[in-house]
Amino acid sequence: MAKIIALANQKGGVGKTTSAINIAAALGVKNQKVLLIDFDPQGSASSGVGVRKPQIKQSVYDVLIGRCRASDVIIKTEYKNLDVMPSGVDLAAAELELADFENRQNRLRDAIAEIKDNYHYIIIDCPPSLGMLTVNALTAADGIVIPMQCEYFALEGLSQMLMTVKQIKKLYNPSLDLTGLLITMYNGRLNLSIQVMEELKKHYEAKLFSVTIPRSVRLSEAPSYGAPIHYYDKKNKGAVNYGKIAKEIIDRT
Ligand SMILES: Nc1ncnc2c1ncn2[C@@H]1O[C@H](COP(=O)(O)OP(=O)(O)O)[C@@H](O)[C@H]1O
Ligand SMILES: [Mg+2]
Repeated sequence: MAKIIALANQKGGVGKTTSAINIAAALGVKNQKVLLIDFDPQGSASSGVGVRKPQIKQSVYDVLIGRCRASDVIIKTEYKNLDVMPSGVDLAAAELELADFENRQNRLRDAIAEIKDNYHYIIIDCPPSLGMLTVNALTAADGIVIPMQCEYFALEGLSQMLMTVKQIKKLYNPSLDLTGLLITMYNGRLNLSIQVMEELKKHYEAKLFSVTIPRSVRLSEAPSYGAPIHYYDKKNKGAVNYGKIAKEIIDRT
C-alpha cells in the first residue's frame, strides 16, 4: 500500500511544487511506483511533468466532488514509474464547494483509497494556504514534508505549520507524521541563511534532511521543458540532492 506524502507550507514560493515534482521523479528513478497529485489550482506540478492543458479532460477536482473515479483521471508521464493526477483551475472552487459535503476533510483520502495499492508512493503538491484542500491532503497523508527557505520569517511560518499538523493529527488523522523539513533555494554564503540554519538545527535537527537544495537556475528552467531536473540536467547539484532526499524519504517511511 502506498505511503502518502504531502508537501505543504502555507507560504507561497518556498519550493513546494519544485520539490514535489523532483522528489516524485527521483523516487521513480529509484524503482518506486509513484503518483504525483497536483493539488494546487495553478496546475504547475502537472505542467512540470510534461502534461499539457488539452490532455486534461478531468482533474482531481472531479475526483474530489465525486464526479469520477481516481483511476479515470490519472495520466502516465513519459518519466520512469511516474503517473500524475492533474489539477485544473476549477479546483479553486472546490475550496468552497467542499463546505457542503459531510466528512469534507476525508474526500481526497476516500477517493484515492481504490488506487493506493498501485503505488509505492503518492506525493501531493499542496496549494499555498491552510484551506480545505490542504486539510484534505494532510488528512489523507501518512507524512508531511515541509519545504522552506532559510530566512527569518520561515521560522514563524514553520511553527504555524507545525501547529496545523498537530491539529489535523488530533482531529482527523492520528497517524500523520512529520517526515522532514526541507531547506530549498539555499545559499550557504549568506550570513542570514547560516544563522537560520543554526537555529533550525537547534530545534529540529532530527527532522532536517541531511542535504539542502541549493538555489539553481537549472531547477527553475526545467519546468518550462516539462521535465523533472533528473531528466533535464542529471548532474546538477539540485538533481543529485533531490535524489538523496528521495532516498532519505524511503529510509524514513
Ligand atoms: N532550488 C531552486 N533554485 C532556483 N529557483 C527555484 C528553486 N526552487 C524553486 N525555485 C523557483 O522558485 C519559484 C517558487 O517555487 P515553487 O516550487 O513554485 O514554490 P511553491 O510551490 O511553494 O509556490 C519558482 O519560480 C521556482 O522555479
Ligand atoms: Mg506550488
